[in-house]
Amino acid sequence: MDVVKTQKIKSNAPDVAITAVLGPSQELPAETPTVAGYDWENGTDYNKILESYTRTGFQATSFGKAVAEINNMLKCRSIPLTEETCDPHEEDIFIKKKTNCTIFLGFTSNMISSGLRDTIRFLVKNKLVDCIVTTAGGVEEDLIKCLAPTYIGDFNLSGKILRSRGINRIGNLLVPNDNYCLFEEWVTPLLDEMLEEQVRENVVWSPSRIIARLGEKINDEKSVCYWAWKNNIPIFSPALTDGSLGDMMYFHSYKRPGLIIDILGDLRRLNTMAVKANNTGMIILGGGVIKHHICNANLMRNGADFAVYVNTSCEYDGSDAGARPDEAVSWGKIRVNATPVKLYADATLVFPLLVAQTFAKHHFSNKKNV
Ligand SMILES: NC(=O)c1ccc[n+]([C@@H]2O[C@H](COP(=O)([O-])OP(=O)(O)OC[C@H]3O[C@@H](n4cnc5c(N)ncnc54)[C@H](O)[C@@H]3O)[C@@H](O)[C@H]2O)c1
Repeated sequence: MDVVKTQKIKSNAPDVAITAVLGPSQELPAETPTVAGYDWENGTDYNKILESYTRTGFQATSFGKAVAEINNMLKCRSIPLTEETCDPHEEDIFIKKKTNCTIFLGFTSNMISSGLRDTIRFLVKNKLVDCIVTTAGGVEEDLIKCLAPTYIGDFNLSGKILRSRGINRIGNLLVPNDNYCLFEEWVTPLLDEMLEEQVRENVVWSPSRIIARLGEKINDEKSVCYWAWKNNIPIFSPALTDGSLGDMMYFHSYKRPGLIIDILGDLRRLNTMAVKANNTGMIILGGGVIKHHICNANLMRNGADFAVYVNTSCEYDGSDAGARPDEAVSWGKIRVNATPVKLYADATLVFPLLVAQTFAKHHFSNKKNV
């Protein structure tokens, strides 16, 4: 404000108000970024639009930080393993260390119900992540989609009418009940086989081993579980019975009782991956079991080196789903010197864009250089 103007205000206004409103600022550090949005003179350049998010503010800035955090994971992951840092004695090919930064990807079931399944499949097919944690729906919806499609509906469709028509609703998606009947026909003989192997060969079935078997048997390149099996990427799901798969196992237990599922065996596999890793990164879409299970495994190594949370949950209720990364730092689940990011957003909106700015660029530039 120029001197003349200030003097004019001073002559008319009370000093207390002038001091309150026009108090001088301390200098911000020179490197502090200034706020700026996308320059539309560039036309519709989606890459530049996304790059402009960093300086846009609010969740756009968190998006920019999440891109940087994932790119740091990938940079760390691209350092080759050496004789000292590799893991020659591990016999379990699913949990054997494959890269310098073990990336744990977690997602809730609804992500697989949605079209995010295709983005997740890109990551798994191209071995861009090392370990997956999901809930039961995240497994069965992937398999069921190989048998019959999920449809776009509307959040406002009446539950009563849908029930009378045998249609189930997940948000604004619709899944005909017939899809679950097809799933029952497909999965029941596989449960028979697993039970026979348990009895005949003492095979101990854990959720991750069941999911690998289902991935193998679905034998369909559209499936996340198929690529996870093919690429030896374990999928952990400690609450595997809480979904349609559990319904099928429940029915099967009347027909042929006895199948036992060992969740502790999987906990050892998951925690071992974290303990043995050179570095770890966590990318967690949504909250609940999937978020805590990955964070807790990382506690076993005194915290993850990199972390990105994408979810819509808030912390005021004390939920684990809403807890910010700093809460995980207090528990030793994220390292004190890490630069974790929480992006408050619907993952269906932002995760494909995050992948575009990180994994996809990294993958396609590596392919070009081969
Ligand atoms: N399609 C399905 O959703 C489905 C199908 C079968 C079984 N189930 C079962 O329901 C139970 C609960 O599901 P869950 O644990 O997978 O998670 P959930 O659907 O209960 O979500 C947990 C939290 O994740 C966050 N979240 C969810 N969707 C999000 C999104 N699109 N973007 C950002 N954040 C999001 C929210 O904070 C939410 O409170 C599980 O046992 C699961 O197996 C779900």
